[in-house]
Amino acid sequence: MTHIAQLRVWRGDIDGGGLQDFEVEVNEGEVVLDVIHRLQATQTPDLAVRWNCKAGKCGSCSAEINGFPRLLCMTRMSMFSPDETITVTPVRTFPVVRDLVTDVSFNYEKAREMPSFKPPADLQPGEYRMQQVDVERSQEFRKCIECFLCQNVCHVIRDHEDNKPNFAGPRMFIRLAELEMHPLDTADRRQLAQDEAGLGLCNITKCCTEVCPEHITITDNAIIPMKERVAGDRYDPIVWLGRKIFRRKPD
Ligand code: SF4
Ligand code: SF4
Ligand code: FES
Repeated sequence: MTHIAQLRVWRGDIDGGGLQDFEVEVNEGEVVLDVIHRLQATQTPDLAVRWNCKAGKCGSCSAEINGFPRLLCMTRMSMFSPDETITVTPVRTFPVVRDLVTDVSFNYEKAREMPSFKPPADLQPGEYRMQQVDVERSQEFRKCIECFLCQNVCHVIRDHEDNKPNFAGPRMFIRLAELEMHPLDTADRRQLAQDEAGLGLCNITKCCTEVCPEHITITDNAIIPMKERVAGDRYDPIVWLGRKIFRRKPD
């Protein structure tokens, strides 16, 4: 069944902009991205929107729909009543390029600061062996599609631009946790997580977990275990003594 949706879309660029109202046809089974594409095809050919897969896998169509961070391609129009105004705005935490497209390079800069996997020097790639339980633990984190909705919703940088240099964000915390929990990884990322990635600024509000389209349990399975490891490293008297006696070799 077809109906006409009331769409309110933010249009503008880095210098400013505002919400504009449109009426757009909606067909049964469509998602918000379909309707944005129809708007683009019929009324606003210069509307900027980023997308690639239309299957919830590339992570590029992140936006805010009625103020909630979502993937445009995975949000069904049937979620909204036909007479409801649907407001689509760019993600708020990153600078706007144009219309619904933002500059998410902050996340790539932070990703570059995360040290990569460091296997034991005497182990060749074909010799890696892991227990299934270890594979499963990191598998959850590897489902990340880098949509950065978790980064967008985290109040530490959403409301405080000045925290950005000192906070890598939940997407990077799961990357650090994945490597820290990897049985073959020899690097110690706890100090980096706490001091440079800003793990201590996270107050485990779980907003990141709530918006993750891959349902990764970011807070409970990555952030809290990382915080425990950092606390154990710093405040456990046995660990402290062990570090004094058997100092780790510098990486
Ligand atoms: S749990 Fe931590 S990282 Fe996640 S949104 Fe809250 S403050 Fe940010
Ligand atoms: S952890 Fe989830 S919300 Fe964050 S970037 Fe990955 S898929 Fe997106
Ligand atoms: S277009 Fe790829 S996740 Fe939406």
